[in-house]
Amino acid sequence: MEKTLVLIKPDGVSRGLVGEIIRRYEAHMLHISEMQLVQPTAEMLCAHYIEHVDKDFFCELVEYMSSGPVIALVLCGESAISLVRKINGSTNFMSAELGSIRGDFASSITQNLVHASDSQSGFEREYDIWFKSL
Ligand code: CMP
Repeated sequence: MEKTLVLIKPDGVSRGLVGEIIRRYEAHMLHISEMQLVQPTAEMLCAHYIEHVDKDFFCELVEYMSSGPVIALVLCGESAISLVRKINGSTNFMSAELGSIRGDFASSITQNLVHASDSQSGFEREYDIWFKSL
């Protein structure tokens, strides 16, 4: 069994899509092992998005991610890291596959509803930010 960290971002929460998003993960035999509603701080977002600090979209990204609470989830299942990324779809909503969460619901490249870890080391780093720094 593998674990991955998922964030349902502020647009997912404010648009009432939390149940629909979690339903899609559970339909693929992924189980919730931890879950909490979090109002992200600037410190948490800078740590989480450290690789994007020099990008021109960084300020827009932090403003959006600070605009409301997010749901932080740990999902557990076989090949959870790659499976969740497939269920989420591509980062850019314009190229995200129909049937994926982003392909069906995302409204822009920034406001793309969900985040998921890209590796085991990514999961461990992100878990500490979202579940241990509170
Ligand atoms: P996420 O999977 O959380 O990883 C980085 C986030 O930055 C991404 O989802 C988007 O929300 C945002 N992002 C990535 N690329 C761009 C871009 N070109 N312009 C604006 N926001 C972006």
